[in-house]
Amino acid sequence: ANPVYSTKSSRYGAEALREAALLIRAGEPVAVPTETVYGLAADATDNHAVAAIYSAKGRPSFNPLIVHVADRDMAHALAHFSPVAEMLAEQFWPGPLTLVLPVKAESGLSHLVTAGLPTVALRLPAHPAMRALIRESGRPLAAPSANRSGGISPTRAEHVLASLDGKVRMVLDEGPTSEGLESTIAAPEASQIRLLRPGPITETMLAEATGLPVVAGKGDVAIEAPGQLESHYAPSKPVRLDALRAEADEYLIGFGLMPCHINLSPEADLREAGANLFAALHIADASASARIAVAPIPPEGIGAAINDRLKRAAA
Ligand code: TXA
Ligand code: MG
Repeated sequence: ANPVYSTKSSRYGAEALREAALLIRAGEPVAVPTETVYGLAADATDNHAVAAIYSAKGRPSFNPLIVHVADRDMAHALAHFSPVAEMLAEQFWPGPLTLVLPVKAESGLSHLVTAGLPTVALRLPAHPAMRALIRESGRPLAAPSANRSGGISPTRAEHVLASLDGKVRMVLDEGPTSEGLESTIAAPEASQIRLLRPGPITETMLAEATGLPVVAGKGDVAIEAPGQLESHYAPSKPVRLDALRAEADEYLIGFGLMPCHINLSPEADLREAGANLFAALHIADASASARIAVAPIPPEGIGAAINDRLKRAAA
């Protein structure tokens, strides 16, 4: 499709923030950094604004989106918090944890955001740019990752432009994101926590914070969520996992001390590897090599989230 806008990339600051908030209030999506990945944010109470997110991303169908709030009061206005939910919010907000909670009847959220479900996914991000944008626009913001549907998530403003140039009016540039992986999604229940998407807040952290068992999988609502589609976060080239060395036509993404083209963390630090993962995939995808290979990543801690994204990239 032809570009409809020329996308403006502005360094985050007071002026850029005001401009972004005006666009949000006019129902336009804006790309904005969070501590996980850059999000494509729009007014979660406006059907047209939410529909514009889907059209910019080229997403074929409407799946529920995460709603971002600036503080706990805003979250309480949108959803019912059980004691376990309160405990998790207390411990991990602001931060990379999304809670799936019963939506309040008077929330005012667009039905496109919840996709008609009785629940809403809420997140209170730590990044000052995203929180300032929510405050300045005075709206809860729906925000999936700011990339074309199915592609590699953006951890830098350049990644957003490479994928959505001409599709969105503005990118707030605040450098590389710190976590580099999408938030953990959890649905707190009375006696257990359902882990819907692994992320920076690990299974162990959730269990230790609540004293409850953490079980994997979807809730009782069957949703075909983007993060749960087989192929997602996918480069345009074939990806081979658990590679110990590169074949002639491969670009090898390494981990720990090993010969490779780019290393996620020479010191084998999983947090660092998570922060570098999507940028490395972007670089490998743009390289001259025909295929991408990735070294084995240990499954412990945040390694679970890294392996989850890699499996989808290779699917
Ligand atoms: O790190 C992040 O979470 C990023 C940044 C931009 O904040 N956002 C993000 O949003 O990944 P999004 O909208 O792409 O996440 C959508 C995921 C779906 O894949 C689904 O798994 C889950 O959120 N989700 C949303 N609403 C849900 C609901 N009511 N029940 C279960 N899962 C839900
Ligand atoms: Mg995404």
